[in-house]
Amino acid sequence: MTRTLRIAPSLLSADFGYLAEEVKAIAAAGADLIHLDVMDGHFVPNITIGPSVVKALRPHTSLPFDVHLMISPASDYIGAFADAGADIITIHAELDEDVQQIIDKIHCFKKKAGIAINPNTSASNIKKVLPNIDSVLVMTVHPGFGGQQFIHTQLEKIKSIRKQIDESERDIDLAVDGGVSAQNAASIVQAGANVLVAGTAAFAGRRDNYHKNIAALRGAA
Ligand code: DX5
Ligand code: ZN
Repeated sequence: MTRTLRIAPSLLSADFGYLAEEVKAIAAAGADLIHLDVMDGHFVPNITIGPSVVKALRPHTSLPFDVHLMISPASDYIGAFADAGADIITIHAELDEDVQQIIDKIHCFKKKAGIAINPNTSASNIKKVLPNIDSVLVMTVHPGFGGQQFIHTQLEKIKSIRKQIDESERDIDLAVDGGVSAQNAASIVQAGANVLVAGTAAFAGRRDNYHKNIAALRGAA
């Protein structure tokens, strides 16, 4: 199945003092979806935004919101993010909770469910949830912060997850998150990804450059 490549700028690298303007600018620059990183200072060592910020941004674009939850527990907050306007809710495979149950909960709210997988977690970990998810998010940095170096060893994992997805014959997106740039986009897409999440590379140089940045990512891939 050939899938069109989609670029998902991560708002983590936007100017937080002007978030609504940043959303509008990155959408106008050619983004396909907006990636929102939710961190709780517990599951990851950083704190970002909650449902109220997602809700406040919702009227400013019609692009889908992919809400990447790096929080624990996650289950208790699915309803809040669904109500806030998330289109895709992505939870981590590493959660100390019943991941399958949370996926069901996300679907109960009529949202797409994604599973994120950390660099040190094996690809085989997502096998059991594959029949029920809509996307996989392969982390190519240790989650928590933008601007980190892409971990090249994860290319093999992307390939192996692409194989699992193809074998499942289900329509599942394969997204890659962390250190994605115009320099490595081609190898990531070649490995089987069809969604590129990019913070630093999308928001570099601020608004005058967003169009150029997104075009560079798409062009490189
Ligand atoms: C990391 C986040 C990423 C991050 C990507 O924990 O999940 O979405 O913002 O930022 P860059 O592209 O700068 O690595
Ligand atoms: Zn993310």
